[in-house]
Amino acid sequence: MNKIKVAVLGATGMIGQRFVQLLEDHPYFEISGMYASERSDGKRLGETLKIRDHEFLDESLESRISAIDVKEIARTSRVAFSGLPSDIAGGIESELAAAGVAVFSNAANHRMRDDVPLLIPECNAAHLDMVREQGSFANGGFIVTNANCSTTGIALPLKVLDDAFGLEMAIASTYQAISGAGYPGVPSLDILGNVIPYIRNEEEKMEIELAKILGSVEGDRFVPSGVQVMVNCARVPVVDGHLESLVLRAGKDASVEEIVKALEEFRAEPQELQLPSAPLRPIIVRREADRPQPALDAFAGEPARARGMSAVAGRIRKKENYIKMFVLSHNTLRGGAGGSVLNAELAVSRRLL
Ligand SMILES: NC(=O)c1ccc[n+]([C@@H]2O[C@H](COP(=O)([O-])OP(=O)(O)OC[C@H]3O[C@@H](n4cnc5c(N)ncnc54)[C@H](OP(=O)(O)O)[C@@H]3O)[C@@H](O)[C@H]2O)c1
Repeated sequence: MNKIKVAVLGATGMIGQRFVQLLEDHPYFEISGMYASERSDGKRLGETLKIRDHEFLDESLESRISAIDVKEIARTSRVAFSGLPSDIAGGIESELAAAGVAVFSNAANHRMRDDVPLLIPECNAAHLDMVREQGSFANGGFIVTNANCSTTGIALPLKVLDDAFGLEMAIASTYQAISGAGYPGVPSLDILGNVIPYIRNEEEKMEIELAKILGSVEGDRFVPSGVQVMVNCARVPVVDGHLESLVLRAGKDASVEEIVKALEEFRAEPQELQLPSAPLRPIIVRREADRPQPALDAFAGEPARARGMSAVAGRIRKKENYIKMFVLSHNTLRGGAGGSVLNAELAVSRRLL
């Protein structure tokens, strides 16, 4: 198959550089351009490196960044992977979709629109069809979003447990990595040796996004899930990987063994379709008393292309009719660029690209 030409927007940032990493030698996609602000115009990617755990190909390091030019992107690329900040992403992404580009975005602007899928393919692959409701679809352009990075990690186990045991309530507390704030993120003097129990708009986003992701599509509208979700968010001095504690109440009683079995055996459409970035096991359950840990588990996921794409659950316990557990997921991979690439792979399998 001829590879699909893709633009990376925000290529000098945390998410944009994960996109470049994941798109090197991708079986479906090839990068046709890397874009950022005027400040980065003309720089080589190698002059802007933010990701320290990946060795980029020379070809990537030598690529030049350009300032965003919607017309040029529409002329050269079928797809735009967006790692733009939300203060500018909304308008640029709409213009690209109107110009016939399929946009896979990490920004919050379009997530809650009635015609835009907020997609995690293992949870709500059917929502992808909503792109057909977008005005630009006839022209080939549409927008698909992925969720906030702390929403994505817990959406996977919540989906499984809701389907199996009928969740009524979920209380989540987050321990979120610094890379979740973008580069350079939180000032070192604020976060070193510290925990900050506030991330602007994060709790509100998680609550409404989970309702959309776990909800259903009826006709041409989203029906939010009835699971009551309450969230507390904190930033901790960890580089990558959001750890989250969950306290859940389910309608149907389940033993710890049944919960573990449901999580471990969970497979969905991306696994059946063998999409290149789909982890063989979307949820890995650790039995050790002190796992998951960001330092040990943030990059969980096989095969190599799905590194960082598995959520890792652990410390699964019951108290009366409450389930308690921890979940970890990589915020810039599964919760960011990796999630978007998986969304685009699903769109290829549906012949939307
Ligand atoms: N970090 C995460 O874990 C995570 C997870 C999920 C979603 N997200 C979302 O993904 C998006 C990107 O986050 P990030 O963490 O990658 O942020 P980041 O590290 O701050 O990167 C921002 C990128 O946007 C570019 N940019 C900024 N202003 C611009 C402008 N006026 N015109 C064109 N490009 C501009 C920057 O280019 P310059 O270098 O030229 O300024 C940079 O490439 C945000 O919407 C964020 O909420 C982040």
